[in-house]
Amino acid sequence: MFNIILFGPPGSGKGTQSARLVEKYGLIHLSTGDLLRSEISRQTKLGLEAKTIMDRGELVPDVVVVGMIASALEANPGANGFLFDGFPRTVAQSEALDTLLQEKGTSIGVVLALEVSEQELVKRLLNRGLTSGRSDDNSEEVVRARIAEYHKKTSVVAGYYQQFNKVVNIQGEGTVEEIFFLLCSEIDNRLSY
Ligand code: AP5
Repeated sequence: MFNIILFGPPGSGKGTQSARLVEKYGLIHLSTGDLLRSEISRQTKLGLEAKTIMDRGELVPDVVVVGMIASALEANPGANGFLFDGFPRTVAQSEALDTLLQEKGTSIGVVLALEVSEQELVKRLLNRGLTSGRSDDNSEEVVRARIAEYHKKTSVVAGYYQQFNKVVNIQGEGTVEEIFFLLCSEIDNRLSY
């Protein structure tokens, strides 16, 4: 089983690249943002509570997202591997993920960290906000709050995995195809030994 974390700030291309990577490598895509949006569209209690937090650009509580990931891991016992997108976003989430994977006799193979300038992130997200219907892409204030939350709570997650030598930084600006090629090269290197 080979498990990947696709890491990076909001708008760095995690969702775009995840869709291609899961297809190529036969992985299960676990995006906590998508799982939360599904709860919102089904108007569950969890979704309604999460929406208020997401609309402010803040992180929902660790216990909520860890619970969703634990259920998703349980629901896919025969998976080849998992691609985590937008998770973990705090050190507490990283530690919880390590424990969950350990219980399954596996671990994270690599953390691929997309690097994109703040100016480009804001441009991409506001541009998507014109058509996506995502309420957290609509205002520059919320987009910048999401990026600030990333610097405050999430960027340290890279340091957590660096202590295990698992992080590879990837230039996240360029065409989608160029970035996909860089990501695949790193994965293929690790799968070949
Ligand atoms: P989430 O859904 O995870 O959103 P995000 O991290 O803010 O990421 P995005 O989906 O906006 O960006 P992305 O990096 O996936 O880029 P994408 O490929 O979409 O989280 C939303 C909220 O949910 C959080 O704010 C939080 O409240 C909550 N949440 C989620 N997970 C949580 C967790 N673990 N803990 C606590 N709270 C959590 O691309 C963005 C745009 O750029 C697209 O329009 C795309 O077409 C374009 N694009 C992509 N690649 C390129 C390229 N190479 N060149 C030009 N444009 C590009």
